Parts: sequence; C-alpha cells; structure tokens
Amino acid sequence: MSISQEVESKINIVELASRYLQMKKAGVNYKALCPFHTEKTASFVISPVKNLAYCFSCHHGGGPIRFMMEIEKMEFGEALHALAKEAGVELKTDYYKERGEKTGDIYDMHRIATDFYSEEILKAENIEKLNYLLKRGIAMETIDRFKLGYSGNPRELFARLKDKGFTEQNIIDSWIFVSPGRDKFYGRIVFPIANFAGHTVAFTGRITGTWEPKYLNSPVSDIFNKSAILYGFHLAKSTIAKEQSVIIVEGQMDTVALHQAGIYNAVGISGTALTKEHITLIKRFTKKLYLCLDGDKAGVEATFKSLENLYNEDLDIYVISLPDAKDPDEFIKSGGDFREETKKALTPIAFYIKEGAKRYDIAEMTGKKAIWEELKKMLKHIKNPIEIDAYIREIGKILNLSTDVLYSELKSFREKRIIDEVNIHNKFDRVELLAGYIRLYVLFDLFLEKFQYTLDDGICIPSFFVIKNLFSKRDIQGKNEEITHSEDTDRFSAIELYIEEENTTLSQDVITLKFLELVGYINKLCFEQEKKALLSDIDPNSAEYIIRHRELQEKAKNMGIKMNRG
Ligand code: GTP
Ligand code: MN
Repeated sequence: MSISQEVESKINIVELASRYLQMKKAGVNYKALCPFHTEKTASFVISPVKNLAYCFSCHHGGGPIRFMMEIEKMEFGEALHALAKEAGVELKTDYYKERGEKTGDIYDMHRIATDFYSEEILKAENIEKLNYLLKRGIAMETIDRFKLGYSGNPRELFARLKDKGFTEQNIIDSWIFVSPGRDKFYGRIVFPIANFAGHTVAFTGRITGTWEPKYLNSPVSDIFNKSAILYGFHLAKSTIAKEQSVIIVEGQMDTVALHQAGIYNAVGISGTALTKEHITLIKRFTKKLYLCLDGDKAGVEATFKSLENLYNEDLDIYVISLPDAKDPDEFIKSGGDFREETKKALTPIAFYIKEGAKRYDIAEMTGKKAIWEELKKMLKHIKNPIEIDAYIREIGKILNLSTDVLYSELKSFREKRIIDEVNIHNKFDRVELLAGYIRLYVLFDLFLEKFQYTLDDGICIPSFFVIKNLFSKRDIQGKNEEITHSEDTDRFSAIELYIEEENTTLSQDVITLKFLELVGYINKLCFEQEKKALLSDIDPNSAEYIIRHRELQEKAKNMGIKMNRG
C-alpha cells in the first residue's frame, strides 16, 4: 500500500466532506449541492463505502486527497500532509519520490527552519530580539502560537538541513537560503506563513532596527501562493466559524497584535488587496467580513480595491476605520478597545461617503452631486436589486436626498451607459480613444512628448481634429477648467466611461502602455502620410529625395516602425 493509500484508508470521507457541505442521507450514500459548480439539485454524492466524494455533473471530486486538493485549492503534497497529520500517519521525507518527482520535501524544510528559528529566539545571545517582541506587547504565549522566531545562525540551519538529507540545491530551491549558508532572513525576526493546514510555506522577516527593507518575504513558489494565503488563517478559522465573522488586517504585526488582544478571528493580507481567492476561502466559513486596513493613503486605496473584489459576493461587509489613522497594532497599544470599533464599523456606502467627504463638502449641493457621481460608478457594478435598494436608501439618508430621485438618476445612468457603449463600438476609432486617454488620465504633456509630429501635421488623419480640439480647448481654458458642455462632451464622457470600464483592473503602468500603443498607432499613420507625400512629389534621383529619405529612415527607427525601401 502506498503512503497516499494508507492515508486515505484512515480518513472518513463522510466526516471530511461534512466540514464543507450540507449533506442529506440518500440510501447508503449522502448527497449535497456540488461545491465545484452552481446547481439547484444535488448531484454531489458522498459514498462511505467507496470513500469517495464526487460530482456526477461536473466530474470534480474524488477520494479524500483529491477532494481536499480541489476544495482547499491545495497541491497534492499539501493535501497529503494535511490528511496524514489527521490520520496519524508519519510521512517519510521523500514522499515526492512516490510521485516520481525529484524535488526534496519543501514542506519539511520549512518546518525544520520554523523550529530552528523558534529555538534561536530563546537563546541567551539573542535576548534583544526576544525583547523586541515583548516590548511590542507580544507575550510568549503568542510567540509560540504564531511560531515567531529569529534567524541568527544560518550556518547551523544550513548544516541541520543537510543533515536531514537535503542537498545544497534542494535547500537553495526552497528559497530559504539565497546561497549556501546565506539565509535570506538572517538578522530578522521571522514570521512563518502557514497554509490552511498550518504548514509553513513561506516566511516574512522583520528587522528590529531601522534599516531597509523593513520586511523581506519569501517569493511566490509552488507551495506559496501569496494572493490565496491569509496570514494566521489556520489559527483563526475555528473562531471565524464560531463567531461567524472575520476581520481582515494588513500584515503580520497587526494580525499577531489582534490575536494577542483576544481577537482570534483576525487574519492578514500582505501587500495586496483582498483577492477573489481570499474571498472564496473566507466564504466557506462566514458571510460577515470586516476590513480593517491601514488608515493611510495606501490602506484606503487597498480598501477600495478590496471592496471592488467584494461586489456581488453575497457577503455582509463592514469597514473599520480606526481613529487617528492608526493600524490595529498601534491602536491596541495605545489602549484602544478594538471590539468597540468593530461595533462602529461602517457599511461600504458609509465608508465611500466618509472618504468622499474628505474631498467634498457633503452639506453643500455641489458636494452631494460630486459624491453621487462617484457612488453611481460603484453602484453600476451591483447586480442584486435588494442590495441596490438598501444602498440607495442608505445614500438618501446620509446625503438627505430622496430615494426616488436617486433611483431614476441611476436608471438613466445605466441606460445611457448601454447606449453609449453601442455607440462606441459602432463609431469610435482609435484616434478618438486616444483623445479619451489624454483627457481622462491628463496625458497632454506625455502625448506631446511621444507624438513625433505637430498637431497641425496630424490633421492628415481622419478624426484627428478631436485631439486638436482637446488641446485648443485646454489652451483657451487652462488645464484645470472643465471643458464646456457640448455634443463633444457627451461623446467624450462615453469614451471615458468605456476606457474606465476596460481599465478598472489595470495598473497605471499597463494603462500608460496602452496609451503609448495608441500614440504609436497615430505616429505610424502620420509617418505613412509623410512617406506617401515624399514618394509622389519628389524626383527619386534628386539630392532632396535622398536626404529626406534618410530623415524618414531615422524617424522610423525612433518610432520603432519598419520601413521598406522605395
Ligand atoms: P510594523 O512596522 O512592524 O508595525 O508593521 P506594519 O504592518 O505596521 O507595517 P506597515 O504599515 O509599514 O506596512 C504594511 C504592510 O506592508 C506590512 O505588514 C508588510 O506586509 C508590507 N511591508 C511594509 N514594509 C515592507 C517592506 O519593506 N517590504 C515588503 N516586501 N513589504 C513591506
Ligand atoms: Mn504597525
């Protein structure tokens, strides 16, 4: 019997599946709604006799390991490890060999390193490091719980790993070491990052002094998918299920600090917004989610981004804004009562309005209108009419506006959008899109820098007048003034909406690339015009032709355009 067979034989699939599914007995088997696809009648069958959990409709599922891999989005080794632990089966370090893979056991390496770092922080010579954590208010119990450690002796760790049978290459491949004997986290407090099953899959190391960078992380690897892992989830999941809520914070220290304060349903994201993968994981445990990211500008942006990912997810969402823009760790240290803040948490709408109120005066009509414009852009993503209704009522209440008016406004906004989109596809060309980019992202200067011709030259291109008008209006009115309303303005709003929709999930860099591609396109159009003029108007044997041809070649090179002779 192979190791995986042994592990599977000791796992009861009915018990395992019942942790994830609402099951009904059907003869000797059980039935449930399939967790892998959406359905109304149960076609997911759990068979205790065959030790199988399988969907006859979408053909997902299988034995305990396969079921675990699919439902937890785990890799084979990860699922095997998790189940082996439950089954009390000890895995040899070379279970990868069973699958014919040469790789060493990367989980074991991480476990050994975790234990090693834990031992290190308790050594007398590293007392200052332990003190660092204690001074930050982290008690020994919490240090144990999160297996916090210190990397003080890379050579010894390296030797220990080699002792356990790992080759130097295995060790380097694990990303714990950057070269033989050089530990990536050397001199840092180490926070092991565990997967759902509690196995370390990565580390993050914090300096205790003031040098940079403050944190160093393991890179994304076969076992570490940064955008799917929530720091501390393995410790928090039972409380999340029991209290039926989860608190999302930013980073390791905030997670640890909240657990230290008895808030055990806190988990951390690191350096990203909440992703769809995080949300899928969370939804299996609770429907209520609190976001409590940093109060600084980056934190507010990450909150907006996270809220976007949370649209239409059928979750109850709240945002906790701590006073004085503190992070949870600082807030608790300064004596704050975090549970009280949880009670004061804002709905997403209230949060949007609160943030908007920093830019607009919502007591004034102009402020109300400006905020409503922003809220509309958010509301257009919401599909569920009950949600829309609740949001509109809330907006009406906070801004003191009639819900009837808001409803009809939103309705005409949605209808206009559909009409506009049809128009865009029928009528707008790339030159007009470019104009949209210039105005929407205020790229006037970048355009002038990258466009190889003058605005007057450009007129040879159809619809270039749109760009030219844009510049002349800017020059007349000044950069900051709104261009007066005209049919052009509506057309522009439509293009802008189209571009915004298309680019919502893109970074500024990618947007700039798209813009440059459009500039490249009209450079090429102008270039073709110039070339055509040269060919038809000048005697190919004249000196002028030769010189201008050279100039053209040079220009083509600068613009990255291929130019054939003749
Ligand atoms: P402490 O300073 O220990 O309280 O941590 P913090 O979580 O308050 O840090 P901060 O608010 O400065 O940053 C928020 C999160 O961004 C951190 O938890 C990290 O995940 C990440 N971060 C901060 N600094 C760095 C860095 O230098 N490198 C990397 N890779 N990530 C960082
Ligand atoms: Mn902090």
